[in-house]
Amino acid sequence: MFAFTPDPAQPKPELYRELAGAAEALTRDEPDGVANMANIAALLWQFLPALNWAGFYRVVDGNLVLGPFQGKPACIRIAAGQGVCGAALASGQTQLVPDVHAFPGHIACDAASQSELVVPVLRDGAVIAVIDLDSPQLARFDTDDAHGIEALASQIAPLI
Ligand code: SME
Repeated sequence: MFAFTPDPAQPKPELYRELAGAAEALTRDEPDGVANMANIAALLWQFLPALNWAGFYRVVDGNLVLGPFQGKPACIRIAAGQGVCGAALASGQTQLVPDVHAFPGHIACDAASQSELVVPVLRDGAVIAVIDLDSPQLARFDTDDAHGIEALASQIAPLI
């Protein structure tokens, strides 16, 4: 059994270190990428406060297809360059969006979403997936969140 008891009030760098440790424990010796993405989506949901969606889109034939996640059912396919997730794929860069309504082309899968963080997962220099976090709070995410999720993306890139 895996029982993690994160304190969401602790400083973000510590929370992300704890999350990385939990991800390491859950993925150790497990080669199945879907299982690993599913457990990491569950960890994101458990560890990070004020989210309404957390999960993966995978790169398939150059575009994004929905992967394991927590939250409401979401858009299944997103073209490269489309919305926040598509921008992360096309640019290979983290997208930190304090107000999704101000982001041109934002795709509203859940009307509750106000802010968003999307981090590409790179393997051998190519984007293989993105990690998408949505929040019902404006400006929920900052550079501590971006750095924490970027570190997680590097850690799990060989495992998904
Ligand atoms: N809002 C995203 C779409 C994915 S959902 O939020 C789960 C976007 O604009 O890419």
